[in-house]
Amino acid sequence: MRIDLSNKRALVLGASGGLGGAIARGLAEAGATVAVSSRSADRLAAAFPDDRAFPKLAADLAAPGVGRSLATRALDALGGVDILVNNSGGPPPTTALGATDDQWRAQFDAMVMSLVDLTGALVPGMRERRWGRIVTVASSGVVAPIPNLALSNALRAALLGWSKTLAAEVAADGVTVNMVLPGRIATSRVEALDRANAERSGRSVGEVEKAALATIPAARYGTPEEFAAAAVFLASPQASYVTGTTIRVDGGALRNV
Ligand SMILES: NC(=O)c1ccc[n+]([C@@H]2O[C@H](COP(=O)([O-])OP(=O)(O)OC[C@H]3O[C@@H](n4cnc5c(N)ncnc54)[C@H](OP(=O)(O)O)[C@@H]3O)[C@@H](O)[C@H]2O)c1
Repeated sequence: MRIDLSNKRALVLGASGGLGGAIARGLAEAGATVAVSSRSADRLAAAFPDDRAFPKLAADLAAPGVGRSLATRALDALGGVDILVNNSGGPPPTTALGATDDQWRAQFDAMVMSLVDLTGALVPGMRERRWGRIVTVASSGVVAPIPNLALSNALRAALLGWSKTLAAEVAADGVTVNMVLPGRIATSRVEALDRANAERSGRSVGEVEKAALATIPAARYGTPEEFAAAAVFLASPQASYVTGTTIRVDGGALRNV
């Protein structure tokens, strides 16, 4: 199977990071024109150094009204968006009782509301063209909530319900809506979580990693490229009858069917 996205335009969020960056590169390798977004123009430039092919749209997903304004900028830059990859920064680790009201509200705005608004602004064009792909990055925590990641577990579960509902609303117009669930993919986010876990539990980072690997049948962390391959498939013409679902990329870590 050869995926050809040569006439498609994509917007990838969180693209200066491990998962978003790999997805942006994967879509570009398949021929798509890809606009990349994250908060920092410098980090975007560092992630996509010599490549003028990637329009860079710096935006903070926590800022009020950012979903609509980012949609306008992406439409200006690309002339239309056929593929939207919803990906955000991860929230701070916290227990369910430990998160403050301010944290809940701020993370809801950054991780949920901005993506809902952005998607709402881009879906009408996709429906008109009768072709669109919405791919949202979540976490295995929506299936099996992860201890001490209460904000992530809860807010990504909200996205899961939204994504499934939206999928049914737009399926007849050729727009698919899916999610990809990373288990433990080797990025700076996972390194930071392992470090925080080590500090909290008084273990070394190596011990924390060893304990994590023992829970993964593949016995290793995944690579961002392995994760991106699933997202690129969901964005492809070949995935036209795949909608309203989730794909796990976790080396078998989730044990339930
Ligand atoms: N890696 C995994 O195994 C794994 C597992 C489960 C869930 N996840 C989730 O998947 C997402 C991506 O993971 P990752 O490992 O690639 O994380 P990462 O390396 O930390 O990258 C996060 C990306 O989001 C951007 N970002 C952060 N806050 C933002 C904001 N307020 N507005 C706009 N962009 C923002 C960052 O760029 P700037 O700093 O330039 O803004 C960066 O590009 C995260 O939400 C993470 O929690 C990852």
